[in-house]
Amino acid sequence: MGVLSEELKNQIRDNFPKYPNKRAVVLPALHLVHDAMREVSTGAIVEIAELLELHPSEVHDTMSFYNFFKDEKHTLGKHRVWVCRSISCMLRGGEEVLEQVCNKFHIHPGQTSADGKVTLEFAECLGACEGAPCILVDDECHMDMDVESVSALIEKL
Ligand code: FES
Repeated sequence: MGVLSEELKNQIRDNFPKYPNKRAVVLPALHLVHDAMREVSTGAIVEIAELLELHPSEVHDTMSFYNFFKDEKHTLGKHRVWVCRSISCMLRGGEEVLEQVCNKFHIHPGQTSADGKVTLEFAECLGACEGAPCILVDDECHMDMDVESVSALIEKL
């Protein structure tokens, strides 16, 4: 039995007419699989490659270029927390916010907490500099963070 559902394969196939060739569908396919499965396993890479008529190493090359995609050895926690480390946020207290998140979950950026609740990541500018420092929790941006507000946010997780 395959890793990808037929529905997921069809979602990938739906991209074929939108791009000049199947190779160009690698990134959209990786996003679809990652969104659905919260990881792109080796088995999924093989099946994506079959769909796109590529060698699995070509899919893996693209995937490994981006830190965004997790594999079965680096699984995501329930929530993905991105702390912006670009200049506006760092000048306005981003380092303290980062330290608070690290201390709360006993992790560093790139790690997942032992209870599986949180994966912490560095983000480059989130495009919300007017609300620096800011963090992204899953798909939601939280602006004007400080130690107290990030603590309250963490408690909700
Ligand atoms: Fe953090 Fe722009 S520098 S959002």
